[in-house]
Amino acid sequence: MHKAVIGLQWGDEGKGKIVDYLSEDFDLVARYQGGNNAGHTVIVENTTYKLNLIPSGVIRGKPCFLGQGVVLDPEHFLNEYDQICQKISNPKIYLSSNISLILKYHKHLDKINESLLTGENKIGTTAKGIGPAYQDKVGRKSIKLYDLKNLSYVEEKLKIIKKFYDPTLIHFGEEPINIKECIDFLRTFTSKIGNLIIDNSLIKNEFSLKSILFEGAQGALLDLDHGSYPYVTSSNTVSSNIVIGSGLQLDYKTIGIFKAYATRVGNGPFPTELFDSIGDYIADKGVEIGTVTKRKRRCGWLDLVSLKYSCQINRVSELCITKVDVLNDLKEIKVCKSYQLKKYEDINFSDSNYLNTIQLLEDDYDIFPSWGDISEFKSYNELPDNLKNYITFIENYLEVPVTIVSLGPERNQTLLK
Ligand code: GDP
Ligand code: IMO
Ligand code: MG
Repeated sequence: MHKAVIGLQWGDEGKGKIVDYLSEDFDLVARYQGGNNAGHTVIVENTTYKLNLIPSGVIRGKPCFLGQGVVLDPEHFLNEYDQICQKISNPKIYLSSNISLILKYHKHLDKINESLLTGENKIGTTAKGIGPAYQDKVGRKSIKLYDLKNLSYVEEKLKIIKKFYDPTLIHFGEEPINIKECIDFLRTFTSKIGNLIIDNSLIKNEFSLKSILFEGAQGALLDLDHGSYPYVTSSNTVSSNIVIGSGLQLDYKTIGIFKAYATRVGNGPFPTELFDSIGDYIADKGVEIGTVTKRKRRCGWLDLVSLKYSCQINRVSELCITKVDVLNDLKEIKVCKSYQLKKYEDINFSDSNYLNTIQLLEDDYDIFPSWGDISEFKSYNELPDNLKNYITFIENYLEVPVTIVSLGPERNQTLLK
């Protein structure tokens, strides 16, 4: 059965680590949305891999596919591909020819959009041009990878795009679109990696009888339609986008992944956010610094209310909990089970105005004792009862079993339950 690893929080749940761990049993690992706003860190035998676009299955030498729902910055891709080639010999990467490109002007437009917002209204994007690139896709202005076969056609397209965007770029002090520079770069790009670009039919035929692991980027609460709008990313991160974003019409099971606590980078509602020394402690111990933007991640207690919603919208059938080691030494651990005593069914998780008004009450939390050092445990049954009770409480609340527990960043610090 095909599987998908989907983040249930605001991203950075450890998707990269778990996709690397699971990919051993799959023939192809595929991304279906997002771009290089994603930052996936994988550590194997003291070697650290930082991936933004290329699925983590590449580390085990698995064929990897970027589907048509991905937006691809060719400049970034060249660098990432180069770096991975230095660590992995002959990586097998396929890029769907339907992929939309992120070009320089998208990054400038991202910057302009953010500069027009002030204070808490800023989204806090990764500034990678993600929103403007998806806007162009929906607005039927994207340059697609298949367009690169005919650069004079791209040039004609860029002339129209230039007419549309130059007045804005110039008005806000950004450089206008330089068509020649863009075409020259795209020529170099195609000459270097043009052989990786394939039609979806090739993947369909070649992997029709094979098993596929899908790697989500971002998290369910950052989904464009289901997340806390407008503090979201510009793609559908949820599992139902897999068929559209990969172009592969198949069934899959969804593993929902979450941290034992919660983090968020960028602005937006975060009901269980901690503003005290415990929040700082978790951030330090969990090394909660964004891979892409190096921003400090906001930290808070585990929020089962939003997690239950994420399980529902992703049709999650099993769970993976990560970073339980980070909470080892705390005296007590809180878990949020309601918002102002309301259950998740009564909450609109895409309404940021509403979510921002939530002030949690004492009775919205349950308190658990911590579990001490777990670094030496090699099987689930050996784990301390306090940790097992924490996990059982989560399973009962979410009505989904936990099947994977992550005790550290290394590939081998992973237990199956
Ligand atoms: P992703 O975006 O979901 O792939 O997650 P990131 O890679 O951005 O962030 C997760 C971070 O936590 C990475 O630095 C991982 O190496 C690290 N990590 C993953 N699982 C664990 C774990 O169980 N314990 C600890 N301490 N770190 C972990
Ligand atoms: P991974 O795959 C955490 C956040 C940004 C911002 C919002 C919109 O590593 O989990 P964007 O640049 O996408 O327009 O920014 O989304 N964001 C992420 N936060 N992890 C990510 O990816 C993210 N990708 C985007 O911080 O709040
Ligand atoms: Mg990340």
